[in-house]
Amino acid sequence: SIVYLNGEYMPMSEAKISPMDRGFLFGDGIYEVIPSYDGKLVGFAPHIERMEQGLNAIDIELGYSIETWRDISETLMSKNDGANLGIYLHVSRGPDTRRFHAYPEHVTPTVYAFSFEIAPEPKANKATVKQYVVSSTQDMRWQRCNIKSTALLGNVMHFQQGYKAGNSEIILFNANNEITEGSTSNVYIVKDGVAITPLLDHQVLPGITRLVLLDILRKEGTIKVEERVVTMDEARNADEVWLTSSSKEIVPVVELDGEPVGDGQVGDVWEKAQALYSAGKY
Ligand code: PDD
Repeated sequence: SIVYLNGEYMPMSEAKISPMDRGFLFGDGIYEVIPSYDGKLVGFAPHIERMEQGLNAIDIELGYSIETWRDISETLMSKNDGANLGIYLHVSRGPDTRRFHAYPEHVTPTVYAFSFEIAPEPKANKATVKQYVVSSTQDMRWQRCNIKSTALLGNVMHFQQGYKAGNSEIILFNANNEITEGSTSNVYIVKDGVAITPLLDHQVLPGITRLVLLDILRKEGTIKVEERVVTMDEARNADEVWLTSSSKEIVPVVELDGEPVGDGQVGDVWEKAQALYSAGKY
């Protein structure tokens, strides 16, 4: 496939990055994953805004405009085949000596982007949707989970913990038994027809799928939405549990820690929410 690296397009096999890059040595970087279906990007502007906030938070001054990011994303979409492509954007601090942890002053950030095939848009159909079986564990990641850092070891270790046990995702909760998010997704519960999701703070990545979904649900009005603390006990007593992420849209969870969620079937509120998301997301 064709990738973008520091201003140029080239086959992935020709893309070369310094082994001294702080992205490689420290995980000192920010990334994004943006989905596209039939050439249409979902949530492009908020994805770029989140990346800019991340770059500001770690003092990387890059100065790419949203038009530049759009041009990179669209060029990758046109150079690479596939109806449904995820666009991965990555900015790391750049190569340095690894003698000093402080941000170096005269270093050029590394900008890398590639596309990869994603599953077709999920249909809002209970019969055909992939049903997620998940476990839960205490969130052992850092206190800045709102930054979409390329340093994903905490997320990777948590996901692996779930995966090894045969689960599709793992839900994380803090020391107060409050849900933070999934290791690769945001979490929702449904109780009495209301969709409830944890508040955004330093424990949670502000998901763009979450942003777009909550906006659609609030405008449409049939499904009430709450952003507040959600405990694991509430999740165990919920009618439905969902996860969202850019590569999955909204997925229904039918089993949590070996127990059925609600009646153990994909829920009606999920079906309605996914239909509204499909219709309104661009
Ligand atoms: N993951 N929380 C975490 C920890 C995530 O890694 C992700 C996304 C989300 C959902 O965010 P969004 O709706 O913007 O995709 C929440 C991406 C897809 C990844 O790392 O591949």
